[in-house]
Order: sequence, then C-alpha cells, then structure tokens
Amino acid sequence: MKILIVYATTHGTTAKAVDLLSRQLENHEVRSVNIKKETPPAPENVEVIIVGGSIHAGRIQGKIKKYLAQYQSVILQKKLGLFICCMEKDHKARDEFEAVYPETLKKHAIAHGCFGGEFLMDKMNFLQRAIIKKISGVDKTVSQIDFEAIQNFAERIKKES
Ligand SMILES: Cc1cc2nc3c(=O)[nH]c(=O)nc-3n(C[C@H](O)[C@H](O)[C@H](O)COP(=O)(O)O)c2cc1C
Repeated sequence: MKILIVYATTHGTTAKAVDLLSRQLENHEVRSVNIKKETPPAPENVEVIIVGGSIHAGRIQGKIKKYLAQYQSVILQKKLGLFICCMEKDHKARDEFEAVYPETLKKHAIAHGCFGGEFLMDKMNFLQRAIIKKISGVDKTVSQIDFEAIQNFAERIKKES
C-alpha cells in the first residue's frame, strides 16, 4: 500500500513523530514530505494520505491548510489520516485538533491523532522562550511525545486500509 505523509514542523518534533509513525507502517511504501522544505505532490497515486502539523498559538502551519484546501477533492477519494503535535493534553489537545482541520476532512478521516509534543528551549528564540515561560511556566526542555497515540493511529491506518 502506498502512503504519503505530508507534514510541517517548526522545531523538529513533528518530524520525529512522522519518523516514529513511518516505522510503525514499515510494511508499506511510505513517503514523507516536509512541506516547509519540499513541495509535496498531489495525493493522486497513493491509497492513503496522512497530513499533520504542529500547533503554535492555537494554529497549525498555513502550508498544511493550503495543501488540504488545494487537494481536498482528491483527498476525499483516499483513505485519510489527520494529526497534530501540541503540548496541550486530552480534551484541550482534541479541541485544538477540532479547530484546525475542516469538518469535511475530519469526518472523512479514518484516523485522528494528537501525538503530544516537545518544548525545545534551544530551538526557540528569545521571544518564544519568554512566551512559553509566561504561558506554561516552563523554562527547560520538555519532551511529551505520545508514543501510544502514534501507535494507535498507525494501527487504525493498517486496519482500515
Ligand atoms: C511559540 C510557541 C507557541 C506554542 N503554542 C502552542 C499552543 O497554542 N498549543 C499547544 O498545544 N502547544 C503549543 N506549543 C507547543 C508546540 O505545539 C510544540 O512545541 C510542538 O512539539 C512543536 O512541534 P514542531 O517542532 O514540529 O513544530 C507552542 C510552542 C511554541 C514554541
């Protein structure tokens, strides 16, 4: 089965999550594209398209939104997985997921995922560090990647495909 993963990452955590996800799908032909570095293809010749990005100030990367809007009609003919990386947990993470993806695509998707996230202090600029300290009280690197959520998401993709 051909699987295309299109993702955006700001500090590298979503790339790590995509790497973990790709390993879970290793029996399939997986291609992942970082939309900030490379223009992803239309999801024409794949069975599954997985799209994800990270949440910053409640929003997902604009390039992810644009990709979904540009290829919505093709995507609706494919098996779809949608995910986010973020530091909010449980229902707050779920609310962020709900807010950033269009209703039609959420309904169509066979897998939804909130994969956790990281605060990587060494990757942040001064302003970002100040914002995170003010909002979350965090001033050291924290890693909260949700390995189980990634595994469950991969299982759903494998089962439904
Ligand atoms: C400036 C800034 C703003 C953020 N805003 C949010 C937010 O609104 N909600 C949230 O859940 N996480 C927020 N985060 C946490 C990111 O989603 C988390 O760092 C994620 O792992 C980033 O993934 P990336 O490195 O792939 O971009 C924020 C992080 C930064 C640095």
